[in-house]
Amino acid sequence: MQVIKQVQALRRYLSECRQDSIALVPTMGCLHAGHVSLIRKAKRLADVVVVSIYVNHLQFSEGEDFEQYPRTFEDDVKICVAEGVDVLFQPKNLYTDDGVKISLQVHEMDGVLCGVSRLGHFDGVVTVVNMLFNIVQPNLAIFGEKDWQQLTILRRMVADLHIPISVVGSALVREDDGLAMSSRNRYLTDLEREKALFLSQILQKMQALAAQGESKQYIISVGLAYLQEADIDLDYLEIRDEQSLLPATAIPKPTDRIFVAAMIGHTRLIDNMPLLKNLENVA
Ligand code: PAJ
Repeated sequence: MQVIKQVQALRRYLSECRQDSIALVPTMGCLHAGHVSLIRKAKRLADVVVVSIYVNHLQFSEGEDFEQYPRTFEDDVKICVAEGVDVLFQPKNLYTDDGVKISLQVHEMDGVLCGVSRLGHFDGVVTVVNMLFNIVQPNLAIFGEKDWQQLTILRRMVADLHIPISVVGSALVREDDGLAMSSRNRYLTDLEREKALFLSQILQKMQALAAQGESKQYIISVGLAYLQEADIDLDYLEIRDEQSLLPATAIPKPTDRIFVAAMIGHTRLIDNMPLLKNLENVA
């Protein structure tokens, strides 16, 4: 595996591979089994796999955990070698020292869910991912369904900007007890780790209520009451259409998805599941 830190060196390396298909897996490092599932999908779909590790200022707002974000480069290298990654791209900085003067902006799609409390976050994500797309020019790029809103926005980015790259989604990977895997889970104390479990548990409970034919309004009210009782510092718990991200209508639809975000101690965690579980299995 090549570890490459400079844009020019990466371009040189990839210029030799252009007859093959290239997949990009963008990450911020601190790799776990969720990231590995993306890498494995990339290996199945393309000849050459590039993983990028770039913790960047652009997508962290003031007061968020940029400085604290776990950096575990040596372990990440070992994982990438074991998974047969061809290139690990770890740039120090993708913009000049005087900052970014030109950037992309998300409209409407960041006015809901995480975009409301993480102002500017998705503008940062699309700007950075677009930089990575321009540098690597892959045939396809893999993103996890764990960050559903991010995936939806990036699908729209390639459509709206006519970027000739396929954005491929990959299933959310969980710990054995159901907690959605996240690099930020490392921040959790044992007690917080237990509390964090309420998030996946409530989503499952809500799925069960949907399977019994309960109304969405009732399902949400049960979910909110449960999280309040568990003393969860909730950001949102909502049922939305998974493609448009618009609020779900009263009529059940296979594209209804439940989204949750909460602060567990100082750690912000997110999770999502389809409302109608069986339909996911059929799909
Ligand atoms: P990061 O949080 O490191 O995640 C990198 C990729 O791994 C994302 O596509 C994310 O959705 C996916 N991922 C994380 N946890 C997962 C899980 N439990 N199951 C499945 N996939 C999971 O998301 C980012 O970095 C950044 O915003 C990035 C896209 C790299 C742009 O900087």
